[in-house]
Amino acid sequence: MKKTLNVAIAGLGVVGSGVYEILIEEIDLINKRSRQNIKLIGVASRSKKDFVDRKKVKYFDNILDLVDAQEVDVIVETIGGEDVAYELCKQALKNGKHFVTANKAMIANHGMELADLASRNNVSLCFEAAVAGSIPILKSLKEGLVANKISKIYGILNGTCNYILSKMEEDNLDFKVALKQAQDLGYAEADPAFDIENTDSAHKLAILASIAKNSEVDFKALHIEGITKISINDIRFAGEFGYKIKSLGIFEDISENEIRQSVYPALIKKGEKLATVGDSYNAILSYGNNCKWNFQVGRGAGSRPTASAVVADIVDIANGSNPFPFGCDVKDLKIVKTIGLQEREGAYYLRFNIQKSFAQNKEFLNKIFSDISIIEQSIIKEIDADNFIYALKLAKIKETQVNEILANIDNLGQITDVNLIRIEDFNK
Ligand code: HSE
Repeated sequence: MKKTLNVAIAGLGVVGSGVYEILIEEIDLINKRSRQNIKLIGVASRSKKDFVDRKKVKYFDNILDLVDAQEVDVIVETIGGEDVAYELCKQALKNGKHFVTANKAMIANHGMELADLASRNNVSLCFEAAVAGSIPILKSLKEGLVANKISKIYGILNGTCNYILSKMEEDNLDFKVALKQAQDLGYAEADPAFDIENTDSAHKLAILASIAKNSEVDFKALHIEGITKISINDIRFAGEFGYKIKSLGIFEDISENEIRQSVYPALIKKGEKLATVGDSYNAILSYGNNCKWNFQVGRGAGSRPTASAVVADIVDIANGSNPFPFGCDVKDLKIVKTIGLQEREGAYYLRFNIQKSFAQNKEFLNKIFSDISIIEQSIIKEIDADNFIYALKLAKIKETQVNEILANIDNLGQITDVNLIRIEDFNK
């Protein structure tokens, strides 16, 4: 006779309602695949009361009451943010309840403390849904790829950003129109600035970096650049150079005690696997010393894809599987240094506007570049009677040199609307 595992959901937004629906609609299939019968017994939410079938599921008016409900074994948190969710998580773990969450901000900022609490109270803390939606990347790194030292991760980690960049390219959509569509489809955060400024991807990358390196999450150390400066022109020019623009989270293992973790838009060659990933899909390309390159792709946002990962965590708990939240005992997580991008060497894309009168003879290029031979390709287009737009593809140089170029541009005082984008080469 199978035992029963009682589950309650806190928060019925996009993800929570997806979990609710799956646990009602697909429960027979899920229980066939699980060592315990999973039963949804409670829901707490500030809104959507009507959504709940009260004959089957108890409605808790106060979210925090879930932590004292004797009958609840697992709390699923899909509220988001770091206020109520964080309080709920701490109390739940202290009260011996397993905790499943899709909350990347909470895990990126408080993950160490919460993993420690889970360990002390001998319960599970699971957050597969927090990173890359439906892709089981945390399970892959912690379980399937456990025999590997992961030295590189390149991830498309935000469905909203990928949707926006893809729709700008494919349908010529304006940035704001594409963002509105992503919001309507339930991909974006409550405050979409988290998506387009890449804070959301940064939360996810910080979690991935910690698991890859077995180091403490250090979100504050991340280098973060958003996608708000990317124009349709950039996407077209990149295309002419043979590249696509994707927003990437990048982890690099530099040395025993040093990593690099950054999130920024980047040009990647059209033939690369990551370049083919569009719409709201996420993808992760990683390198492990034994497995070599690994590539995973799947829906990174939206109700059911994210809920699918939440339910997988519940089934893990029902099966008695309890891998360490960050891949090893929290006591064994190292403190490592995040080094900046100043030592980066790579190719770059540079775009700017310049008055035609000033651009005559292209003499200004000598004032910007100490060596103009680093310009490998260029596109010059007229934007109106008085101005040109320039797009340049620069050879592999050091980031410090790029900063000098940007300073020279600034000093000239004649160039506006500058955008610099890194070019990522995965074969380096
Ligand atoms: N706003 C997030 C995204 C949701 O667009 O990827 C999934 O974490």
